[in-house]
Amino acid sequence: MSTDPQYVMAIDQGTTSSRAIIFDKQGRIVSVGQLEHQQIFPRAGWVEHDPLEIWRNVRKVVADAEASAEINARDIAAVGITNQRETTVVWDRTTGEPVYNAIVWQDTRTQKIVEELAGDAGPDRYKDRVGLPLASYFSGPKVKWILDNVDGARERAERGDLLMGTTDSWLVWNMTGGTDGGVHVTDVTNASRTMLMNLESLDWNEEICADMGIPVSMLPEIRSSSEVYGRGRTRGFLPEVPIAGILGDQQAAMFGQACFEKGMGKNTYGTGSFVLMNVGTEVVHSQNGLLSTVCYKLGEQPAVYALEGSIAVTGSLVQWLRDNLGIISSAPEVEPLAASVADNGGAYFVPAFSGLFAPHWRSDARGALVGLTRYVTKAHIARAALEATAYQSREVVEAMNADAGVDITELKVDGGMTANELLMQFQADQLGVPVIRPEVTETTALGAAYAAGIAVGFWYDTAEVARNWAEDKRWEPAGDEQERGRLFRNWQKAVTKSFGWVD
Ligand code: G3P
Repeated sequence: MSTDPQYVMAIDQGTTSSRAIIFDKQGRIVSVGQLEHQQIFPRAGWVEHDPLEIWRNVRKVVADAEASAEINARDIAAVGITNQRETTVVWDRTTGEPVYNAIVWQDTRTQKIVEELAGDAGPDRYKDRVGLPLASYFSGPKVKWILDNVDGARERAERGDLLMGTTDSWLVWNMTGGTDGGVHVTDVTNASRTMLMNLESLDWNEEICADMGIPVSMLPEIRSSSEVYGRGRTRGFLPEVPIAGILGDQQAAMFGQACFEKGMGKNTYGTGSFVLMNVGTEVVHSQNGLLSTVCYKLGEQPAVYALEGSIAVTGSLVQWLRDNLGIISSAPEVEPLAASVADNGGAYFVPAFSGLFAPHWRSDARGALVGLTRYVTKAHIARAALEATAYQSREVVEAMNADAGVDITELKVDGGMTANELLMQFQADQLGVPVIRPEVTETTALGAAYAAGIAVGFWYDTAEVARNWAEDKRWEPAGDEQERGRLFRNWQKAVTKSFGWVD
């Protein structure tokens, strides 16, 4: 006797690792498979991933998650994909071979391209149509760089031999058969990060594609975030399982945090941090340096939009302390080291490793560690690194308050760094509002699972999944208000020292 599948799987293709997580109907984690991939830094400011390594890792983590839950593909009702956004892959449709490594969202090599495109019109040249300022962060200029710099790539693209996609498209194409009829799609949330999609009509903007010399034929079809795009067709890999959800990872976290009402928002602390607020079914254009982006679109229903404050470097600064300075030997060690001193000792760390994103959008910024005296120790530097996450989050939350005309009253948080109690308390102090962590902090994967599960009827609607959300812990703001203000003003002064480092 066959029973209905009891689980939904999410594949979370992130910046540092790929994971497969199996969820049950209550949104509880049943099992996890996870593998890190190589971070490739060929030059200062360049960051690449190997797309073939990512695809191999995804196959492995899916098998691991299935094995540890002791289930197989028949027990899985649907698969949802969530991914690092903007990271760009260009590959050959007949061989399946990438023509170049994936250029990662943090990579700044397209700065010149971006300046040329801005020309006299300035960085907001396309903002009214795509919701984004011209910046090296987004995919369109990365595609242009590949077509300009890889031998023969432009001709091959114009002949129709090359496909482009963010890592969601790359995975779905491979999962649904690859060179043997793979489906070439993306969802509205990922497409909204390319600089190539009209935010209102949700289709490719041919004029901007032409400005960047990108043939529209190489772009994926834009679909909703929750529908069946295809079924697993790669041998032994999720055979016949519907692939039924795609959401950029930050939008997936909104879904997993059940931010379905206008005005609801969250901050996810990953390699970077991303504050998003649901603004409803009309695009809201920021006056304060935030992005306008698609939050999600369920099947035929209207798209829901968000305002976003993107911060390039938060968790990756802790990795940098570990890998490049060696002052800690594992990421969690940063908390006791930072807690071993009472304050930052006067040190401020502006981690502008990829320039500064929201609300500054300064691609000429580079990292700055200021306020140093001989008194400063590695513990103060660890503390300054954690504080930088909270100050940067405060900057984007203040921008959001200014855009919305009302102040947020609490902040839902998730992601790896929410295990850091020192940081969470400091964040609440800096914002002056409670910071709230849910029971399931794997909100990104959970959101992708929900989108896929809703598409196949495993869950009925957003109201049903919202009932699974439960609070785990909250941090109330504490400490002297004047002191919090003094620290933040010093931070703002430190930020100005990071500008103007690129010739
Ligand atoms: O926009 C970049 C973002 O999607 C990356 O997120 O968590 O993979 O670092 P994460």
